[in-house]
Amino acid sequence: MPAYTGPVISPHAYSDPAVAGEEASRIFRRTWIFAGLAEELAGDNDFVVRDIAGTSVVVQNFGGELRAFRNVCTHRFALIQTEPCGNRRLQCPYHAWLFNRDGVPVGIPGNDAFFGFGRAERAALALERYEVDARGRFVFVRLEGGGPDLDTWLGDYGTVLDGAGHLFTDGIDDATQTWTANWKIGVESVLEVYHVDATHPDTFKPFTVKEWQTGFCGAHSRCATRLSDTSAHWWDGIVTRLGLAHDPGGAGVYDHYFVFPNLSFAITHGAFFSLQTYDPLTPDRCALRYRLFLGDGKRGAARNAVAGSLRDFNTRVLAEDRFVSEAAHKGARQMDRPAVLGSVEDRIAAFHGEWFGRMPAQDAC
Ligand SMILES: [Fe+2]
Repeated sequence: MPAYTGPVISPHAYSDPAVAGEEASRIFRRTWIFAGLAEELAGDNDFVVRDIAGTSVVVQNFGGELRAFRNVCTHRFALIQTEPCGNRRLQCPYHAWLFNRDGVPVGIPGNDAFFGFGRAERAALALERYEVDARGRFVFVRLEGGGPDLDTWLGDYGTVLDGAGHLFTDGIDDATQTWTANWKIGVESVLEVYHVDATHPDTFKPFTVKEWQTGFCGAHSRCATRLSDTSAHWWDGIVTRLGLAHDPGGAGVYDHYFVFPNLSFAITHGAFFSLQTYDPLTPDRCALRYRLFLGDGKRGAARNAVAGSLRDFNTRVLAEDRFVSEAAHKGARQMDRPAVLGSVEDRIAAFHGEWFGRMPAQDAC
C-alpha cells in the first residue's frame, strides 16, 4: 500500500505555545476526557483532581452524586483540593471557604463581619461547573457543553469499557511519568506498531505476531493482533494457575484501543488490562499516567510474582517508548517539512485528521 498523502500535523505544532493554547480550548475543553475510576469516587467526599490542558478540575462525590468543578477558589484563587485524590470536603485550604454540591461557597468564615454576602452574592461566586458522566467504572468530564453525550462519543468502544470495568478490578500498578515531549508525540507512540521491531526488540516484539488488524470508530481507533505462541502459552498457564477471572473470547489476542484525544487502553489475552492517558503539561512536556489491572483470582505469592513481572514488562516498554518519543520531540523542533506516514501508520493519519477537524486555523503540511 502507498504512503499516506493526506494532511499531516506540522512539526512546529509539537512545540508552539499558541497551538497548545488552541488545543486546550478546541480539543481538551470540548471533548470527553477520562478523569478517573468509579472506585476512587465511591464514598461521600471522595475526590480526584485532573489537570486538563491547564485547567485544574475536581470531580467529587456529594452524597452519592458526582459533580465536577474548576478546582480554584473564587475568593483569591487557591487550588481547593491540593492532592491528586482523597476524601475531603470541598473546602479551600487558604481561608477555609467551603463549597457545596452546586459549587456555591456556603461557608465563608467571618462572612457577616468581612463580606456581608447574602444568598445572591454567594451564588455569584459559585465554582465553574462541568459535565461529568461515567461509562461503567470509567468517569469522564467535559469542560464545555455541546457535542455528543458520552455513550455516543465512545460508540462501540463503550461496550469494551463496560466489559473491562467488570472484569479488571484489581489495580496492580498506578504511576505517572513526565516526558519531555509534546502530548501528541506520546499519543503517536501508541498508535502504530511499525516501531515495535526497532524500539522494542526484546520486549514487545516477541510478545505478538505481525497480524495487525486496524479498525476505526468515530474519532477513535483500534488495533488487534495475535499473541505469539510463547506468550499465549504463558498466559494460559497464568490464567489457570492463578484462577484469574478473564474473558475467554480474548484468549491469544492483544487488543489496543485509542479514544480521542488522549486515552489508550489495551487488553491482553482477555486477562490483563492497561490504561494510559497522555496529558499536555506544556508544549514540550506531557504527563503519562499508566495503570495496570488484573481480574480477581487466587491471592498469594504466585499472583504477586506475576503482577511484578507485568509491572516490569510495562515499565521496560514505556522506557523504550519514552526514549524515542523524547528524541522525536527534539528532532521535530528543527524541522519545517511534514513527517512521512506509511500505510502501517494509518491510525496516526486518522488522529491527525481528527486534530485538523478541531483546529481549523492550522494549516496542514
Ligand atoms: Fe512502543
